[in-house]
Amino acid sequence: MADCNVVVLISGSGSNLQALIDSIAHDGNPARIAAVISNRADAYGLERAKQAGIATRVLDHKQFDGRDAFDAALIETIDGFDPQLVVLAGFMRILTGGFVRHYEGRLLNIHPSLLPKYKGLHTHQRALEAGDREHGCSVHFVTEELDGGPLVVQAVVPVESDDTPESLAQRVHGQEHHIYPLAMRWFAEGRLRLGQTGAQLDGKDLPATGHLIRT
Ligand code: GAR
Repeated sequence: MADCNVVVLISGSGSNLQALIDSIAHDGNPARIAAVISNRADAYGLERAKQAGIATRVLDHKQFDGRDAFDAALIETIDGFDPQLVVLAGFMRILTGGFVRHYEGRLLNIHPSLLPKYKGLHTHQRALEAGDREHGCSVHFVTEELDGGPLVVQAVVPVESDDTPESLAQRVHGQEHHIYPLAMRWFAEGRLRLGQTGAQLDGKDLPATGHLIRT
């Protein structure tokens, strides 16, 4: 199977990036991470990439005059690596419509909630405050709607009565590290695509939740 070039965008710790890197060591995974790009020079994920021998670039959004200029430079940097797939792994910037359209059908994001619940920030605290019995994480194709877009896979994490935002975040993070490599591999193998009506796996429409994993 031909390799699938992947560019990963990060802003911070990069634990999801690490899970993606580790998953590629598995036999027959056609994904190849060509580069890791961060908008922050101090993102620890850059160290993880370097340790794995992956090219890194830093594009500091503060050095650009507005979102359009930043996203144009970002596109130029990403496309220099000729990716078939772009993966947002804790990339904490709102992207312009132009950027999202440029990568339509080949841009994935991970979000720490069972979307469409709790778009945006502080998802674990919001789930606890709402008294939810279940929380989790989602991988989705990116569209112009923030944290919207057709769902690919969700992992459901039961909420315990004594959970704090931190304890819940830790268990959700563990599931993120499972579902993101899965989605990347499906895409790299040509099994996952964005069709007219939503995300498709093996030629069949996925349910609105995406592939659902209960833990
Ligand atoms: C992850 O929990 C990811 O779901 C979240 O940022 C964290 C990054 O952690 N992304 C978002 O909230 C995007 N809306 P990591 O740097 O350790 O992978």
